[in-house]
Amino acid sequence: MGDMRKFADRSAAVMPAETHGAEAYISEDYARAERDKLWRKCWLQAGRLEDIPEVGNYITYDILDDSVLIVRTAADRIKAFANVCTHRGRRLVDTPAGQRNARGKSANFVCGFHAWTFDVTGENAGVCSFIQAQHEWGGALNDERTRLGEFKVDTWGGFIWINLDPDAGPLREYLEPAATMLDPFQIQNMRVRWRFWTVFDCNWKVALEAFDETYHVPGTHPEFTAFGDFTGWGRQQGQHSHIGYDAPADAPEADDSILGENRAKLRLGIGDPRISTAEMQKYTWEGVNTNTTKTLVDVAQTLPEVLPEGTPPAEVLKYWLDTARQIDADRGVEWPKVDSDHTAQSGTAWQIFPNQQIGHAVNNMLCYQARPCGYNPDKCYFEVAVYELYPEGGAPETEWTFAEPKDFPYVLKQDFSNMAAVQQGMKNLGFRGNIPNPKAEGAVVSLHRNLARHLGTGAPVPLD
Ligand code: FES
Ligand SMILES: [Fe+2]
Repeated sequence: MGDMRKFADRSAAVMPAETHGAEAYISEDYARAERDKLWRKCWLQAGRLEDIPEVGNYITYDILDDSVLIVRTAADRIKAFANVCTHRGRRLVDTPAGQRNARGKSANFVCGFHAWTFDVTGENAGVCSFIQAQHEWGGALNDERTRLGEFKVDTWGGFIWINLDPDAGPLREYLEPAATMLDPFQIQNMRVRWRFWTVFDCNWKVALEAFDETYHVPGTHPEFTAFGDFTGWGRQQGQHSHIGYDAPADAPEADDSILGENRAKLRLGIGDPRISTAEMQKYTWEGVNTNTTKTLVDVAQTLPEVLPEGTPPAEVLKYWLDTARQIDADRGVEWPKVDSDHTAQSGTAWQIFPNQQIGHAVNNMLCYQARPCGYNPDKCYFEVAVYELYPEGGAPETEWTFAEPKDFPYVLKQDFSNMAAVQQGMKNLGFRGNIPNPKAEGAVVSLHRNLARHLGTGAPVPLD
């Protein structure tokens, strides 16, 4: 965990109260500074490996002024090229109108301006293989001068990561301790069930922070409080952070392993756990369409019939998860076995600095990502991708699809309704800075502490 040494240990359950200002969200100068100090320095999640399964498959990834062309150049090799023609700077691969990014398959790319042609597969990946009237340069052009620029690229968790900084350290080191905590969940085996992107009238941090704490549940999603207690924690883990639920106070008879499981995302509702779990699962499926699977929802619906009234919560949880695990195994979907201590320790989601959240579980995953939309601090791209396990060859073909905020599942729309209002509110002359809950909103504080290391401004300070 090399990088961890550089950070004070801030993983304690509760940190002292701190405050941070609004600059990072609303300042145009700050948004401009982010390009060089943040986006051109950090490892960024740029796509999914299954999007480029064959040699010649490519995707593009844009971050402010930079565009990256990611190509599978060989069966076991991926390269990240600067998506710009070396002749006079035309972007090489255009993003089709209305699309999030380009995606396709080709052994070479022909520039739309003067037709210079670049190989992107095999030994010559990156080489400019055709130049009109090359002799007119009098022999001054060589492969080194004309080949495509390249960036660092690596993979982890089934994701492709790029880094625009030639001096960046290794990806694995960057991702720790998140990578080690998430590895047992085998997220590389999950495939997309749906993925939408949209544009918000708020800073990218406002969008991300709406999902990195559970403190907002009673205020934003009051109907969920009928199902259970959603109090939680958020802790800094070096550059990154994670969040999780507190153990339910009403499960005293449960042994440690059940408490561990119940701190995970697949958890029981309160009251008669057979009924509340059935209701909560149904509501979650219809209202969020993530954080669970069809198998879990279906088995939960049978709990009130199959189990007698008064079945202890621990037994309800065990029956529910064991039965769903078996049904999935029978159709060729194996959930990884994760030690319950590890499950409890890992929490429910990791915020990978700077702009990704991975909400993990043994059989599904919910990922959020936010990126700036130009240098306007009041706009961002926001992306939601929901993954689960499929039998061999059974995953659906999906594309990034644009959706208006109003077309997202109901519970997400509740979250979205705060975005522009927070952005606008923080500009109010009378706003005196953020005062996040030191326990439940620790991930918000962590983000700003780490941003300040890059930007040199905006560090949280003690709240006196
Ligand atoms: S800019 Fe690409 S060929 Fe001229
Ligand atoms: Fe929410």
